[in-house]
Amino acid sequence: MNQQSIVDAAVGHIQDASKGDSSGHDWWHIYRVWRMAIRLAAAEQADLYVVQLAALLHDIADWKFHDGDLTAGPRAAEAWLKSQQADPVTIEHVCQIIAQLSYKGAGVATDMSTLEGRVVQDADRLDAIGAMGIARAFAYGGHDRRLLYDPDDPPELHASAQAYRNSRGATINHFHEKLLLLKDRMQTATGRALAQQRHAYMEGYLGQFHAEWEGER
Ligand code: ADP
Ligand code: NI
Repeated sequence: MNQQSIVDAAVGHIQDASKGDSSGHDWWHIYRVWRMAIRLAAAEQADLYVVQLAALLHDIADWKFHDGDLTAGPRAAEAWLKSQQADPVTIEHVCQIIAQLSYKGAGVATDMSTLEGRVVQDADRLDAIGAMGIARAFAYGGHDRRLLYDPDDPPELHASAQAYRNSRGATINHFHEKLLLLKDRMQTATGRALAQQRHAYMEGYLGQFHAEWEGER
């Protein structure tokens, strides 16, 4: 199959696999990351084929595996790409991006080794901040039965991926534990510029949230 047919097949495969997800990894999350990744790839002159496949497949295991097994994603992507007879160099690169992609806590470095990886990571992170990020955080919090906010439970800056994964804090804590930290971790110039605007929007939102909490606005 040619490159465009494999990209088209990936769209169909992910639309099927993500049906019914309410944890923040539904098809429209993938769609937004894919669109943004194409935009960043054009600006950064990254390989569009690898970027599109990695963006489309980046959450491929999140619908089936919830046990923190970080190899599930790259393995599922590899199996699917092999079934499409994608070339081995592309498979290797896409799987390596998926393996390095996710946020693992405030104190855990998650640098990307290739330009294509940096593009997809920035696109995924942009969807975790701004108006979209606020919506996804509260949707995830509800799905995971978390409080909106608990003034008695301060945020933590997790030093390990495991501590981050095990935390049970309120959704507002997640802004301090991840979302507000992302703007300084962007890895492309375009991603960084877009993150500034989305960051400012979240800060305005949090100011309003706390003022309303105390009946001040
Ligand atoms: P990613 O798509 O970057 O891998 P995750 O799987 O970590 O993201 O999370 C999916 C969405 O849910 C993201 O928008 C993320 O910020 C949000 N989320 C993850 N953990 C929490 C949490 N503890 N509280 C609120 N939102 C969360
Ligand atoms: Ni994602």
